[in-house]
Amino acid sequence: MERMASLLSIEDLRVAFSLGKKETTVLRGINLSILGNEIHGLVGESGSGKTVTSTCIIGLLPIPPAKILSGHIYFDGKDLLSLPEDQMRTYRGRKIAMIFQEPAKYLNPAFKIGEQIIEMLMLHMGMKKRSAYERVVELLRLVGLDEKVIDSYPHELSGGMKQRAMIAMAISCDPDLIIADEPTTALDVTLQVQILALLKKLKDMRKLGVLFISHDLYLVSEIADRVSVIYAGRIVESATEEELFRNPLHPYTRLLMHSIPDAKKKGSKLATIPGQVPDAAEIGNGCAFANRCPIAKEDCFNDIPSYVEYENAHTVACYYAGKIWQIL
Ligand SMILES: Nc1ncnc2c1ncn2[C@@H]1O[C@H](COP(=O)(O)OP(=O)(O)OP(=O)(O)O)[C@@H](O)[C@H]1O
Ligand SMILES: [Mg+2]
Repeated sequence: MERMASLLSIEDLRVAFSLGKKETTVLRGINLSILGNEIHGLVGESGSGKTVTSTCIIGLLPIPPAKILSGHIYFDGKDLLSLPEDQMRTYRGRKIAMIFQEPAKYLNPAFKIGEQIIEMLMLHMGMKKRSAYERVVELLRLVGLDEKVIDSYPHELSGGMKQRAMIAMAISCDPDLIIADEPTTALDVTLQVQILALLKKLKDMRKLGVLFISHDLYLVSEIADRVSVIYAGRIVESATEEELFRNPLHPYTRLLMHSIPDAKKKGSKLATIPGQVPDAAEIGNGCAFANRCPIAKEDCFNDIPSYVEYENAHTVACYYAGKIWQIL
């Protein structure tokens, strides 16, 4: 199968945080490619490095205490990691936009929604105020908000409306890539479903690439075209959504799937994965999942498995990928 060119390509990204004299590596070689017109789900437990990965893409990693140890993030023919801040600013918000879990934190409480989006359009797109105003009306409609919201302050909107307003702001400058970091976690289920549908619609209309970040594999399966599973700062498996669910090859992915509540087995206990994510400092040379893995053997503790590509562009980092399934 011929591969499409990537919109964004992360190669061997390693990031550490320093606390006093102690340096902790939190991204241990991330490899991830996002195509245009694709929703790429990044799923993993809390602390696995999802937000650190997204802040690297958008150039907002706090350096220090963070340090980029190695890696590249290619976008638009450039390595974003090597761009000076003034050039990075031309990408952030313009070509790469972000939607956060807590819109309240990122919408300025002192300005009306309309004013905030108009400012973005004037700054990044060089639009005049009048045409920017008209565009904001269009954008609000597109995300399912009444045009009256143009004159609302963020605190006057409900959680779901704020999230829609933030999506309107994110797409205002016609970005090529949107990073959505747990965008629905703070919403109730009905609103979650609506926001997912909106993101899908926008992806189709605008041919966007979307990096959709969540700790919820079920949610990711609802929206993503392709899914990457991250564990302790490393992608352990990546495949199309269909392929991943049809044929999960990494034991961690397999166990995550077991922990999705099954509608048919209502009331049955949620499977949990025994053990805990090891502290970054405790991960030795081997596979970070080995201490929780039901099929780990000695070699898993000694050397980190590299990526192997299987059929259907399905990549996995596990020595025993798909081999000993009767245990799981
Ligand atoms: N500013 C910081 N200083 C020190 N360590 C940090 C900082 N930000 C993140 N980390 C560490 O980096 C690791 C990855 O954090 P990250 O926020 O990327 O996790 P996450 O996958 O987004 O989790 P969650 O699902 O809870 O949002 C964690 O171990 C975290 O403690
Ligand atoms: Mg996070």
